[in-house]
Amino acid sequence: MDLHIAVLPGDGIGTEVVDASMRVLDVVAKKFKHTVHAEFADVGWAAIDKHGTALPASTLEICRRNAAILFGAVGLPDRDQTLPQKQRPERVALLELRKGLFANLRHVLLPPGLASRCPLKMELIKNGIDIMIIRELTGGLYYGQPQGVSGTAPERKAVDTLAYSEHEIIRILKVGFETARKRRKRLTSVDKANILATSQLWRELATAMGKQYPDVHLEHMYVDNASMQLLRRPSEFDVIVTENTFGDILSDEASMLAGSIGLVPSASLGAPDSQGKSAVPFYEPIHGSAPDIAGQNKANPVATILTVAMMLNYTFGLAHEAAAIEKATFAVLNAGEKLTGDLGGKATCSEVTDAVIAGL
Ligand code: IPM
Ligand code: MG
Repeated sequence: MDLHIAVLPGDGIGTEVVDASMRVLDVVAKKFKHTVHAEFADVGWAAIDKHGTALPASTLEICRRNAAILFGAVGLPDRDQTLPQKQRPERVALLELRKGLFANLRHVLLPPGLASRCPLKMELIKNGIDIMIIRELTGGLYYGQPQGVSGTAPERKAVDTLAYSEHEIIRILKVGFETARKRRKRLTSVDKANILATSQLWRELATAMGKQYPDVHLEHMYVDNASMQLLRRPSEFDVIVTENTFGDILSDEASMLAGSIGLVPSASLGAPDSQGKSAVPFYEPIHGSAPDIAGQNKANPVATILTVAMMLNYTFGLAHEAAAIEKATFAVLNAGEKLTGDLGGKATCSEVTDAVIAGL
C-alpha cells in the first residue's frame, strides 16, 4: 500500500519526536511491504522565519494532497509573546489545520511496567488504566463568536462564546458511543449541565442517543466531579466524551495517569461533508514543543510513535501494523531499561526509538 503523508515537525521537540516516529514508520512499512511517501512541510516558527507566517499556503497545499498529516508541535512561548495573539502559531497553524476534524481521540494507557511512575497509589491503579478520551475539537470556546477584547483600559472587556449546535453535539456523541461499543462498553459523558445551557442540551441528546445503544453503559458526570473521579477510580473509566475545553483540561490531567504526557498520542478525525469531502485527518502527540529540552535528544518519542500507530489504524486501516508498533513500544516501556527523563530514566530520544525498532 502507498502511504501518502504530510509531515509537519514544527517547533521545539517536534522535530526530534517526528523524526523518531518516521524512523519507526519506515521500518514497519518495510516489514509489511508498504511504501511511505512523506512530504515534509514547514509549520510554526520554522515557517514564520522562512515564509513570514506559521501556516504558509505551500504547507496547506501539501496537507491537502496527502491522506494524513503527522504533526509535531508548534509554539515557542518566548517568541510567541512578540506576536499579536492572532498571528501566533497555535492559532494560525494548529486551529486552522484542525478545522473540520471534530473528533479528537486521546488514548491514555498505563503500561503495567510503569505503574510506579503513576502518581496514584498502587491500590487505585491495580486494575489498569486504559481510557479513550474523545474531545470535541471544532466547537465551543475555541471558535465561538463573538470573541475578543474591546474597550480601553481600565474599562476593557473580554468575551469568549461557548456555543454548540445539536448537529455538532450529536456527531461527537456518536463517535463516543461507537468507540465504547468497540471497547469495554462504558461511556462517560462529561458536562456542566447544572449550570451551562450547552451542557443541558448535550446531556439531553446523550440520554436520547443512549437508547440506541442499549449495550453501552452511559453515565453522565459533571466536569468538576470527573476531574476528581479520574484520580479516585481511574480504572473504571473506559470512554469519555466531552466538549472542547473540558476535553483539553481532562486529557492533560489524565495523561499523568499514564505516567507522563510524553506517552499520549492523538488522532483528530472528521467526516465527509455534503459533497463527500472530508478534512485531512490530523495526528499529533498531545504534548507541546517543550523548548526547555529541545535539541538535546531528551524528548520522549513514545507519544509520537503511538500517534503513527493511530494513523496506520484510522487512516490506512492497517491494524496489524499499528498493533506491531504498539507491542514493540509497550515492550520497551514495560522492560523499563530504556526510558527518557520524564519517566525517570536516562535514555535519549534516539535510544528509545532504537529499542522500539529493535523490537520490531
Ligand atoms: C492541546 C493544546 C492546544 C489546545 C493548544 C496548544 C491550543 O493544549 O492540543 O491540547 O488547547 O487544543
Ligand atoms: Mg491541551
